[in-house]
Amino acid sequence: MRKKGILITGAAGEIGDSLIRALTSQGEDQIVTLDLKPLPKENEGLSTHIQGDLMDQALLARLVSEYEIGTIYHLAALLSTRAEFTPEMAHQVNVEGTLNLLRLASDQSQWRGEPVLFMFPSSIAAYGMPNLEIKAQYPRVREWEWNYPTTMYGCNKLYCEMLGVYYSQYYRQLAVDRPVTLDFRALRFPGLISAFTVPSGGTSDYGPEMLHAAAKGVPYEAFVRPDTCIPFMAMPDAVTALLKLAKAPASALSRRVYNVTSFSLTAAEFKDMVLRYFPNAQISFRPDLKRQRIVDSWPAGLNDNDARRDWGWKPDYDLERAFAEYLVPNIRKRYQ
Ligand code: SER
Repeated sequence: MRKKGILITGAAGEIGDSLIRALTSQGEDQIVTLDLKPLPKENEGLSTHIQGDLMDQALLARLVSEYEIGTIYHLAALLSTRAEFTPEMAHQVNVEGTLNLLRLASDQSQWRGEPVLFMFPSSIAAYGMPNLEIKAQYPRVREWEWNYPTTMYGCNKLYCEMLGVYYSQYYRQLAVDRPVTLDFRALRFPGLISAFTVPSGGTSDYGPEMLHAAAKGVPYEAFVRPDTCIPFMAMPDAVTALLKLAKAPASALSRRVYNVTSFSLTAAEFKDMVLRYFPNAQISFRPDLKRQRIVDSWPAGLNDNDARRDWGWKPDYDLERAFAEYLVPNIRKRYQ
């Protein structure tokens, strides 16, 4: 008999790091993690870890021969800045990797006779504001507005959302006995900030980088203008959102892709916040024009009313609490 399992891809990444611990503490089914890299030491032993490539079909086949996967958290992706250096390769990982898993989840759903839950973190990168005037006019974008991504990563996220909806609702719609398909649910996250990890290859990275540099006592040059504004969220809220949406009854959901957000602020305000806790921090601004263009195309804020109404989303951490109770104490401990 196969063992029941929850699969997390990209488990060695930032969201994975916190999600694994949250899932283990809930004592759910066995957790199977997949990543190109080994898990960080602190997370070793919390899951059965497979170090391997999402693109490796034989590996995926082996995985389902051993495990009955009921839930997938598909976190693996190449982030927005990194993807711009190798767009086609990013497409391969971000889109074809997702397609492989959607197909796997579909097959598994059919075997089980009930839908596999497919959780997908999407992003503010799915939006593309044409210029700063329009960005200022639409401070809280709705899910269906301004879906004109300007990065390969954003295009990949938006398209994979659509693929997820397709596999959930329309896959083999012409078949006489339409098979049981998966249950795809996605969250469009703002820039995420973790106290325990630093992101790599993203474009919202200037926020977390500023804070971690200050805690380490090293100078930091932000790659954006001080007036740059995007939304952010503390990592525990991102994990809460994923777990909450995963648990919501399907009947409560009016969409498959939800905005979620916590607080919006400019890079200058971010710096002020960091200075409040680390008064000696040396933070300056030297915009990198290409990365600046990407952040400028992201909305200044998200409207997450649907998530609040349908499944009771509410962030635990506003800006003040995020710094005072989660980020600063944990980061201090980390670099002491
Ligand atoms: N934080 C991500 C990035 O900067 C966006 O989802 O690429």
